[in-house]
Amino acid sequence: MSAKKVTKIAVLTSGGDAPGMNAAIRAVVRTGIYNGLEVFGVTRGYNGMIEDDIFEMDSKSVANIIQRGGTILKTARSKDFFTPEGRQIAYDNLKKRDINGIVVIGGDGSFKGAQKFSNEFDIPCIGLPGTIDKDIAGSDFTIGFDTAVNTAVEAIDKIRDTADAHDRLFVVEVMGRDAGYIALHSGIATGAENILIPESKTDMEALVRALTEKEKRKKLVNLIVVAEGDEFGGGNHVGDFLKQRLPNADIRVCILGHIQRGGAPSCLDRLIASRMGYHAVECLINGTHNVMVGIEDNKMKYTPLDNAVKAKQKISEEWLKIVKILAS
Ligand code: F6P
Repeated sequence: MSAKKVTKIAVLTSGGDAPGMNAAIRAVVRTGIYNGLEVFGVTRGYNGMIEDDIFEMDSKSVANIIQRGGTILKTARSKDFFTPEGRQIAYDNLKKRDINGIVVIGGDGSFKGAQKFSNEFDIPCIGLPGTIDKDIAGSDFTIGFDTAVNTAVEAIDKIRDTADAHDRLFVVEVMGRDAGYIALHSGIATGAENILIPESKTDMEALVRALTEKEKRKKLVNLIVVAEGDEFGGGNHVGDFLKQRLPNADIRVCILGHIQRGGAPSCLDRLIASRMGYHAVECLINGTHNVMVGIEDNKMKYTPLDNAVKAKQKISEEWLKIVKILAS
């Protein structure tokens, strides 16, 4: 922990954007200003730190953004920041403005960068979990997940209508490179018959047997929600496999893709983003440094960035059991 008083802070968004990032930026800026800090925005994630794209923000610069998707600061996955030279330039750019605290809103890759940076240069960093995938340990929520799931649910409900009208089997791929949370939540909420996620192995032969049975009974209206990171290889692979194994079935594949990342944040995402943003600044001020600010059991939880990086959330056995029972 650094004992130095934090007086000037920078905020940036990094990695894939997530609805609610703007609400978090707003909270960081306004809490900082309320506490007498100078607050700077960095554009395009760590790239802006390296390219010296850093500007002072005031209360007005975050007006009218709480309801907007995307991120006003723009975002990027910076390769240069993962080199010692890149981090040195980034540090020099902060140093010349006397910036001595950073808030990074992003996923575990972004936290990895923050941790390295703060080890090297003794600048305290606070991470806020901003990712639609909900794949970070130390928080029940990540900013953007709730909106993404609601977007997926709305889309899958629509797909259900057309699937039903044509007696079709639909394979719907939702996002989640390493995590099945979007698939799990949207699948349960739309009554999907099958949910394929990376955290649990699917017996594809058993799936084919079950679908063949349904086909015999002329009841092959079936929704299969697949996480893009499922071990079988995502929606197209699952679709191709099923088309091969069930040649008489009417099968369609729909990849929902990036619509899940955009749009106005849900009320929940705005609330958690505001709360986390507020506490990020409090942490910088009170010396709780190099942590990710999360929420568990409706209480703030501060996880050392190192641990937030390493551990992913586990999907509980309870959920997996519920899926099995309700989809049968
Ligand atoms: O990390 C969030 C996420 O939406 C993943 O689910 C997905 O695999 C990835 O981002 C896609 O990111 P991009 O298209 O920006 O490379």
